[in-house]
Amino acid sequence: MTIKNHHEAAKDSDKPDHLEGPEELYMVKMTEGDIPEVTAIEKACFSTPWSGDSFKSEITENEKAIYLCVKKKEKLLGYAGIWKVADEGHIMNIAVLPGFQHMGIGSLLLENMIRTAVDSEIKSMTLEVRESNVAALKLYEKFGFYRAAIRKKYYEHPVEDAVIMWLDL
Ligand SMILES: CC(C)(COP(=O)(O)OP(=O)(O)OC[C@H]1O[C@@H](n2cnc3c(N)ncnc32)[C@H](O)[C@@H]1OP(=O)(O)O)[C@@H](O)C(=O)NCCC(=O)NCCS
Repeated sequence: MTIKNHHEAAKDSDKPDHLEGPEELYMVKMTEGDIPEVTAIEKACFSTPWSGDSFKSEITENEKAIYLCVKKKEKLLGYAGIWKVADEGHIMNIAVLPGFQHMGIGSLLLENMIRTAVDSEIKSMTLEVRESNVAALKLYEKFGFYRAAIRKKYYEHPVEDAVIMWLDL
């Protein structure tokens, strides 16, 4: 499936079944107006969610950061962010609104992040993920990320090891 930019009409055949309808999915850069919906998804998805201020400084002050959102009509369904560090892309977060997960939106976000990374001359991408997060591990492996290392007790609430993954572009 290919995500459309804001001005292109999506074909029905491009949409996942559960999201079918006259409205199109589109991808935009995150702006300050998106932060309330983003933080609501953060709280619903993570035990130590980022604050609105953290997202605000990411999108207004951090020149290394690129944050994208998927929307349908004006509703924000998911977001993802990377930092460009030299020629590496560090995935900072990716999350989809509960109720809209497992419909292909995470794949759309990751596909777009990888494309953005290639366009930004990033040569490899990396991330950390809880070792129990089966959905996320499957998503990353679907796009070719491989398990490179374990970082012991990296997470809190609950304490858990992180799997460090890399993708060579
Ligand atoms: C991880 C997450 C972003 C995936 O987004 P998504 O929109 O559900 O992902 P997709 O629908 O594109 O699915 C991608 C793959 O993930 C796997 N997957 C998704 N949801 C799954 C689930 N509930 N159980 C098992 N596998 C799942 C599938 O292998 C799927 O591949 P397929 O389409 O070939 O079946 C989403 O589950 C989420 O927001 N989780 C909470 C936040 C989070 O954990 N973020 C990652 C932090 S590292």
